[in-house]
Amino acid sequence: MSAPPAQLSLRRPDDWHVHLRDGALLQAVAPVTAAQFGRAIVMPNLSPPITTVAAAQAYRQRILAALPDGSGFTPLLTAYLTDTIDPAELEGGFAEGVFTACKLYPANATTNSAAGVSDLAKLTAVFETLERIGMPLLIHGEVTDTEIDIFDREAVFIERHLQPLLLRHPGLKVVFEHITTAEAAAFVAGSGPNLAATITPHHLHINRNALFRGGLRPDFYCLPVAKREHHRLALRAAAISGDPSFFLGTDSAPHPRHAKEAACGCAGIFNAPYAIESYALAFEQEGALDRLEAFASEFGPRFYGLSPNEERITLVREAQLVPARLHRNDAAGEAVELVPFHAGELLPWRLA
Ligand code: NCD
Ligand code: ZN
Ligand code: ZN
Repeated sequence: MSAPPAQLSLRRPDDWHVHLRDGALLQAVAPVTAAQFGRAIVMPNLSPPITTVAAAQAYRQRILAALPDGSGFTPLLTAYLTDTIDPAELEGGFAEGVFTACKLYPANATTNSAAGVSDLAKLTAVFETLERIGMPLLIHGEVTDTEIDIFDREAVFIERHLQPLLLRHPGLKVVFEHITTAEAAAFVAGSGPNLAATITPHHLHINRNALFRGGLRPDFYCLPVAKREHHRLALRAAAISGDPSFFLGTDSAPHPRHAKEAACGCAGIFNAPYAIESYALAFEQEGALDRLEAFASEFGPRFYGLSPNEERITLVREAQLVPARLHRNDAAGEAVELVPFHAGELLPWRLA
């Protein structure tokens, strides 16, 4: 393998799946994502979830207010699908440019998904609308059936729900979010251009052993949970394949440290602070740094029908130590304590 370059210039990447939260956490994490990315698809799983155009407009204002002056960051908002959501609200919000996409959480699949969809059959009118107007449907693809082993819930979702949905609505544009299995990667690669997938940095770096290395490690717990090593390798192969169906989506999902280090700890990994550095490391390890820009900055906008960013970023080959914890003070001066992904590790790349 030839020596890595001293620096790497890419179009500014976008994050096609992020949790910016609300309140003190929003204040803490929105500037972190905005420092790395030009745009981001912002998840709607707040409490209460974002289900109306008015709620999305208000949330967008709160996000923009949390950014430093002069930030060029653009949040792209999503609507949270429920069993009873009105397709007209989605269509109106999409036409106004308030909603970029809809998000489908199977009820109780993950954080703040209790109000999610209990049965896809109830949403036929919604899917017909999305298909007609070309509004993307983003899916947390796991079955919630507790009889199904947690490590199999994504693969089972494909056969029980995703494949039948795509057959019923062949014109629907779907993003299979944060894929974690070889089955998902193969399914997306074998489907047409209407199906894409996001891949997180953590699923490129860890397998399920990380959760149990030397003891229980809540910092590596997220949903869908990391799988066996062969799945991680399949995700790496998909990410570097040059197939435009696979693009960057961090699923950065911050929870305060005390909420993760608890008897019933929250699912979610906070990877926003070193996200592009983390992807760069994975691509370098695969000898595929020349494919990073397309994955990080081109395939996402292409799927969403947007132009890629013109601005560029530079990654410098300069080792940096990731701190064990990040502290941010909220408006009331209270510290929000977060553990970043790669805590305590040396990363070889640094965003200039
Ligand atoms: C996300 C969260 O905390 O909002 N958690 C996670 O583990 N990924 C929800 C999600 O994306 O499923
Ligand atoms: Zn999810
Ligand atoms: Zn997520």
